[in-house]
Amino acid sequence: MKLRRNSRVTVLAALVLGSGRVIGQNGTEQSLVPLAFQPLPLGSIKPSGWLKDQLTLEANGLAGHERDFYDYVAHSTWLGGTKEYSALREGFPYWFNGLVPLAYAVDDSRLLEQVHSAADYVLDHQQEDGWLGPEKGTERNFWGRTPFCLGLMQLAEVDEQYEGKIVDALWRFSGLMNSMLRDNYTGYHYHDGDQVGKGDEQWGRVRVQDMLITLQWLYETHPTGNLTQLMENMQLLIKGSLNWADWYNGAIYIKEDLNTVPVSVTEPLFPYEHGVNVGQGLKALAVFRRVTKNESLVQNSKDAVDWTFQYHGAASGAILADERLAGLAPFYGTETCTLVETMYSLSYLYQALGEKDYADRCENTAFNALPVQLTPDWWGRQYVAQPNQPYSKNLGATPFWNVNSWGLTYGLETNYPCCTVNHPQGYPKFLSASYVRVGETGLAHALLSPGTVTMDDTTVKCDTTYPFGNTLTYAISANSSFDFHVRVPSWADVSTSSISVGSSKSRLSPDEHTGLHKFSIPAGSTTVTYSIGNPGIVLEKRANDTVAVHRGALVYALAIPSTNTSSLPKAYNTNQEFPSSYAPPESRDWQIFNTSNWNYAIDPSTLQLHGGNETVEGSLQNPIWAPGASPLWMTARACEIEWGMYKGVPDVPPTGEKRRCVGNGTVEVRLEPLGGAKVHLVDLPVVDLSGN
Ligand SMILES: *[C@@H]1O[C@H](CO)[C@@H](O)[C@H](O)[C@H]1NC(C)=O
Ligand SMILES: *[C@@H]1O[C@H](CO)[C@@H](O)[C@H](O)[C@H]1NC(C)=O
Ligand SMILES: *[C@@H]1O[C@H](CO)[C@@H](O)[C@H](O)[C@H]1NC(C)=O
Ligand SMILES: *[C@@H]1O[C@H](CO)[C@@H](O)[C@H](O)[C@H]1NC(C)=O
Ligand SMILES: *[C@@H]1O[C@H](CO)[C@@H](O)[C@H](O)[C@H]1NC(C)=O
Ligand SMILES: *[C@@H]1O[C@H](CO)[C@@H](O)[C@H](O)[C@H]1NC(C)=O
Ligand SMILES: *[C@@H]1O[C@H](CO)[C@@H](O)[C@H](O)[C@H]1NC(C)=O
Ligand SMILES: *[C@@H]1O[C@H](CO)[C@@H](O)[C@H](O)[C@H]1NC(C)=O
Ligand SMILES: *[C@@H]1O[C@H](CO)[C@@H](O)[C@H](O)[C@H]1NC(C)=O
Ligand SMILES: *[C@@H]1O[C@H](CO)[C@@H](O)[C@H](O)[C@H]1NC(C)=O
Repeated sequence: MKLRRNSRVTVLAALVLGSGRVIGQNGTEQSLVPLAFQPLPLGSIKPSGWLKDQLTLEANGLAGHERDFYDYVAHSTWLGGTKEYSALREGFPYWFNGLVPLAYAVDDSRLLEQVHSAADYVLDHQQEDGWLGPEKGTERNFWGRTPFCLGLMQLAEVDEQYEGKIVDALWRFSGLMNSMLRDNYTGYHYHDGDQVGKGDEQWGRVRVQDMLITLQWLYETHPTGNLTQLMENMQLLIKGSLNWADWYNGAIYIKEDLNTVPVSVTEPLFPYEHGVNVGQGLKALAVFRRVTKNESLVQNSKDAVDWTFQYHGAASGAILADERLAGLAPFYGTETCTLVETMYSLSYLYQALGEKDYADRCENTAFNALPVQLTPDWWGRQYVAQPNQPYSKNLGATPFWNVNSWGLTYGLETNYPCCTVNHPQGYPKFLSASYVRVGETGLAHALLSPGTVTMDDTTVKCDTTYPFGNTLTYAISANSSFDFHVRVPSWADVSTSSISVGSSKSRLSPDEHTGLHKFSIPAGSTTVTYSIGNPGIVLEKRANDTVAVHRGALVYALAIPSTNTSSLPKAYNTNQEFPSSYAPPESRDWQIFNTSNWNYAIDPSTLQLHGGNETVEGSLQNPIWAPGASPLWMTARACEIEWGMYKGVPDVPPTGEKRRCVGNGTVEVRLEPLGGAKVHLVDLPVVDLSGN
């Protein structure tokens, strides 16, 4: 197999001249607003260290086996089967979008064969008129194409065997799309009597930015078809969309807990409130701006992210939406697929707009919210997780807006299959976004993690235990000098951070907007040591007089001692166990039970870090996101408080006078990085124990 490491770059240099301008067929120029930083083509970055371990677990776990047995992938209508979990027919497309980058990240020949044969099947069955996928007539809805096309885009970048075939298929599809959109938005807007329902229509229209990403890629890197028509498609899709600019508007946006707002207000806005849509939609206005050139969308994008996290966000970088945006109560949930979409959007926003906040937030979600929702072996995922989740079991009741009582448990498809098919994209796309091209020849380490990037004749190999340790060591080999940039996280103490290039050590001076510190690398071999000053424990104030504990890029949660049981996986719609022949034996549904009380309040002044310091070195445990696996943990003094229940889970903790120590005095509690602490409290009530 030949890797096409620099295909995008070559074409860009020839046709886009680094500025996003494309020469139109009629000789005039029609440009897209350029991205602040260019992503590298899939295949340019290979993982190492803990990230490689995680991706390997993913490849050997549920994600890497869905094509073998999982009905909604293996027997999808896209591959000639009959199994779909909804009329959206999105199961196979989601899987494809995540498995293309996963297969290439770990170079797993079994998975490469699976994505290739799946791509071959769908491309070979492209319909006469250009439609991709199995639908005929009024079954046709653009949405299901969207994740599939994102997968095709990635495959075309990495593998030249596929490039021509994919580009040709996408141009044919673009031609059909144009005639459909011109025909009263067929496949996009639905009319009475159409087979696909109203709700299904909304998904295509509110998630359209993800389709535009593929169309923009085609426009810029393979401008071999009718560009006027492709541009028109983008304009029509935006014109016909449910436009996020209408929602991220101070007069409309709901800042309250949505469960306290009348249904008459929330219901018409539901497409903008659904958690997965929000995760995807955070990037929408930055994608639209490339076409419309409307600069006010930069501020709208910032509002989108700021408001989402301020009013509906968890300390871990999760959007609290179960399945509709909620408020800040620590018993609300976040879907696993909302997290992976949030990460993809935030990494896109950093590339599109270059604002450092998006990268900081992407790392937060990637190192905290995402890993806690997967079993250590990657064979089970939660449907939703709570900030304060002392157990993960069938609740009987449900504190969630529209998630059933099994939603907190880990397993194959608890509550609903979307997170089974969509969780795979999380870390593979994080890897793809970890480096970006800056200008013509510069390279930046955008999302910090271990791995090796190759760009042109330059190779940069980064060893690090980050986010556990704070040192990144780069071995660089370059044929000519170039500018290298490292992102300095916003939490870093710049005064104690340093960079050593060869034997010359200097202070950091990160750009205020991008967070990037730039320095020059000579031709030849160079070693760079980047040391991030860690200011220590930082407390984030949360609702109801609680705090979340951060140190560097990690959130530390009170780890609840636990035990677990498992069963055969259950069908999401009946909660009946599948026959044992359905799934591999590793696929189990898990419940996790607390083996101690959990109703603790801590005195934050007693928090102490254990197990390491700024130089966590050597290799981390594998799996790293497992109970007790982190080299770092904390202790604090705590006492039990009277803490009520709400629908089977801990209520918001008592505040003021009602918050009193009860029971046997103070105890020492343990806090671990959230990703490993599957049952946990993140939003911790505080008490003053100095008198005890
Ligand atoms: C186009 O669709 C709208 C509904 O979205 C409908 O009201 C209108 O009649 C349709 N027009 C034609 C020409 O079919
Ligand atoms: C040339 O194509 C662009 C779109 O690529 C279009 O906006 C423009 O109107 C066209 N100009 C002429 C003279 O046809
Ligand atoms: C390209 O698309 C435009 C807009 O749809 C159309 O007017 C034009 O005829 C097309 N050009 C060719 C060569 O097909
Ligand atoms: C630009 O977008 C804003 C919404 O952010 C909208 O109010 C404004 O009308 C748009 N301007 C143009 C020229 O379309
Ligand atoms: C269940 O407990 C075992 C033993 O402690 C542990 O190895 C395993 O990771 C746990 N499984 C889950 C899903 O938490
Ligand atoms: C870059 O350097 C390597 C090793 O020093 C060499 O093999 C390769 O040919 C060089 N490439 C170019 C384009 O000069
Ligand atoms: C908890 O915090 C939420 C969000 O700020 C607030 O709406 C609620 O009233 C608080 N409840 C208590 C008991 O403090
Ligand atoms: C687990 O938590 C529940 C309350 O949710 C509590 O009643 C129970 O005693 C705890 N289990 C143990 C073993 O402490
Ligand atoms: C940090 O850990 C390293 C390696 O374990 C050790 O050499 C060093 O002395 C420690 N520094 C501090 C300040 O504890
Ligand atoms: C207090 O400690 C005793 C002895 O360890 C134990 O039996 C008792 O259950 C504890 N009481 C509470 C309220 O935790």
